[in-house]
Amino acid sequence: MNQASMPKSAGKTFILEPATTLSGTVRVPGDKSMSHRSIMFGAIAHGVTEVSGFLEGEDSLHTLDAFRAMGVRIERGGAGEVTLYGNGVAALTPPQNPIYLGNSGTGMRLLTGLMAGMNIPAVLTGDASLTGRPMRRIVNPLEQMGASISTGEGGMPPLTIAKTGALTGIEYTCPMASAQVKSAILLAGLHAKGTTTVHEPAVTRDHTERMLRGFGVEVSVTGLSASIIGGQTLSATALTVPGDISSSAFFLVGASMTPGSELILTGVGMNPSRTGVIDILKLMGARIELINQRITGGEPIADLHVNGSQLQGIEVPEELVSLAIDEFPALFVAAASATGTTVITGAEELRVKETDRIQVMADGLRALGGDIHDTPDGARVTGKRLAGGVADSCGDHRTAMSFAMASLIADGPITVLDCANVNTSFPDFAAIARATGLNIEERDNSRVAEPVN
Ligand code: S3P
Repeated sequence: MNQASMPKSAGKTFILEPATTLSGTVRVPGDKSMSHRSIMFGAIAHGVTEVSGFLEGEDSLHTLDAFRAMGVRIERGGAGEVTLYGNGVAALTPPQNPIYLGNSGTGMRLLTGLMAGMNIPAVLTGDASLTGRPMRRIVNPLEQMGASISTGEGGMPPLTIAKTGALTGIEYTCPMASAQVKSAILLAGLHAKGTTTVHEPAVTRDHTERMLRGFGVEVSVTGLSASIIGGQTLSATALTVPGDISSSAFFLVGASMTPGSELILTGVGMNPSRTGVIDILKLMGARIELINQRITGGEPIADLHVNGSQLQGIEVPEELVSLAIDEFPALFVAAASATGTTVITGAEELRVKETDRIQVMADGLRALGGDIHDTPDGARVTGKRLAGGVADSCGDHRTAMSFAMASLIADGPITVLDCANVNTSFPDFAAIARATGLNIEERDNSRVAEPVN
């Protein structure tokens, strides 16, 4: 993962004094998965697509820049408003320079599928974390469709997409539960000859399927299989991106595990392929109520009313793992607060996220005084009060925000290292966390003092 090469002192540090409860009303930023897709689809559609609620985080902004580099006119209005002037695939021009996707696996994997299908040659690269992540999982099926994609050492980025003839649809059985792999193949299939079908081993987020339909594309889904017929064009639309349940997760956990907390999270996406975190927390005894449930742009949303309580350890049902895959860093903290032991299994995909999230959470919670034993596919976490100390997020946004929430169950101060990447998904995290009750300060280590003559 190249974490060793990342400077630990660079970027941002969170400094936290112990806190006891969370309260108030929070509007979390737009969903990251949907923000990426809104740009990709609006950029290749015919007509003007208006997006509201777009996540102005580094990850989705890199995707936006990628399409600007391919000649698409994209205007940013105020807070989360984006307008894309699409003229279809034929209007895209090959990028002159390598496309830099920062920290974003979603950006890289979905763009690779889409661009291979559109036959646009390009080089895709990213930061130290992204260039340490496995890409064979998309390159292999895309090559079966006729694409030509070379990788860096060990199947990792940079990816170089060469010009080929049109791709041909395939029927592919995914070895792992991954919406990124499914989406990369379906997006390649959008411009391939014939039909492309992906079979999955478990339910994964279906934003690609839902949003493509919003752009007028037919995608058929039966059980764990999704199919798309190549050669369809997208028609521009207006879409609203709901609040990101993955960003809500830190606050859901923080409030759920602290008796006396009362928090409302508004406008949160409730796509059933994403709500595993709520199911798992409820199994642990959390008091989370869905209010004002409604549908926006083909996606269910709700306000979440959370009351704190003492959580209990559970065996996390494996069928919920893919439905909560990004929420495990926060769930490790919930488990560290619970009475008894929580057992997580079947979660080996956590090891190939922005960091090895099993390792980073286990090391960090142990450094804070937690009782956690990591296993190849999960962990056993026994709840107890934490002492506090220094936890290294290793540059992972979700582990950084999870360790911040650990200050609600700690008796001493906590320092969280390497937090700059919180900006990839949740730029206002510290301010919102402070407003709801965390005693959090951000220290910017990147400002080096001027030498005194
Ligand atoms: C995502 C899919 C998930 C998730 C990631 C976003 C997406 O990755 O972890 O944050 O937008 O499709 P995998 O498909 O690799 O599980």
